[in-house]
Amino acid sequence: MTFLPSDHTMENPMNTPFKNDRRKINYLRISLTDRCNLACMYCVPKGSIPSLPHKDIARYEEILKITRAAVELGITKVRITGGEPLVRKGLTDFLKELSKIDEIKDIAITTNGVLLVKYLDELIDSGLKRLNISLDTLKPEKFKFITGKDRFNDVWNGIMAAFKKGIDPIKLNIVSLRGVNDDEIEDLAAISMQYPFHIRFIEYMPMGNSAVDIGQQILIPEIRKKIESKFGALEPVKRDKYDGPAKRFRIKGGIGEIGFISPVSSHFCNECNRLRLTSTGMLRPCLLNKYEKDILKHLRNGASDEELKEIIREVIINKPLSHHLEKNSTAHVESQMSKIGG
Ligand code: 5AD
Repeated sequence: MTFLPSDHTMENPMNTPFKNDRRKINYLRISLTDRCNLACMYCVPKGSIPSLPHKDIARYEEILKITRAAVELGITKVRITGGEPLVRKGLTDFLKELSKIDEIKDIAITTNGVLLVKYLDELIDSGLKRLNISLDTLKPEKFKFITGKDRFNDVWNGIMAAFKKGIDPIKLNIVSLRGVNDDEIEDLAAISMQYPFHIRFIEYMPMGNSAVDIGQQILIPEIRKKIESKFGALEPVKRDKYDGPAKRFRIKGGIGEIGFISPVSSHFCNECNRLRLTSTGMLRPCLLNKYEKDILKHLRNGASDEELKEIIREVIINKPLSHHLEKNSTAHVESQMSKIGG
């Protein structure tokens, strides 16, 4: 039995692997690249990060090998993230290979949408049915402030193109920050009155050397209150078996949904079913814990499928029972979001 790095065990003595842990790990999030064509203030560190050398990034065939081994251990759902996955060449061929793995019932992508118009047809051809897109504001100027790039129109056109092509659901991810885009919470929620999109508010997680101050964090209860003051009580939407951590609601009369993702104010660790593969081939059981295994190194050193499965098992066994990002706390997770993959 391998235990968590001791600093975590000490900080959180209850954080013992195995005990009462009935979580079924069936979801793998794969970060294809650390590179991104935006530089969102909540994701990249102050200043800039040097891109990792190509040789350190897992090749598609390596990712497929690791994924096949993970599938044998029960993974049935895969999400592709980054950085920005659409900036990596050969993405759609990779998706086609991935969709040949019968056991994977669900493949999704999280993108910033900047290149969506360009790649949409190819993505649909390679089997993509649903999309998550980050959209923190409806104002082009504000978009430039948050992301560092003047690409609002590209993203909005991408969302509309995906809608017209029948991608369903389209989920829009919003990180609300005080003094930045909190004046738009109601306007963003109102998109669900006009379009069948899922508008998802995500609590800011203090990770890496981010440019965001902890005082700018807004927790879900405050966001919900703002939305309900304007639109009335939200109606709960029935959960689906493939649902992630979002709590789902609808504004009365809305055709889309409102989702709340609250990693800080209400941990969902007890239902977390995820593993993460970073772009450099590190396998992680938790976004907010630095424990990871260099599965790519083992693969490159000639590990067999059985040996890969052994490493994956070890990572699953070491999945922490919970993280310790607390309300109003400046406790900080060292890892950089852009490196691990959102
Ligand atoms: N806290 C919360 N959400 C974040 N995202 C990126 N960085 C953070 C952070 N520090 C979100 C983005 C993206 C999703 C994958 O993760 O909104 O849509």
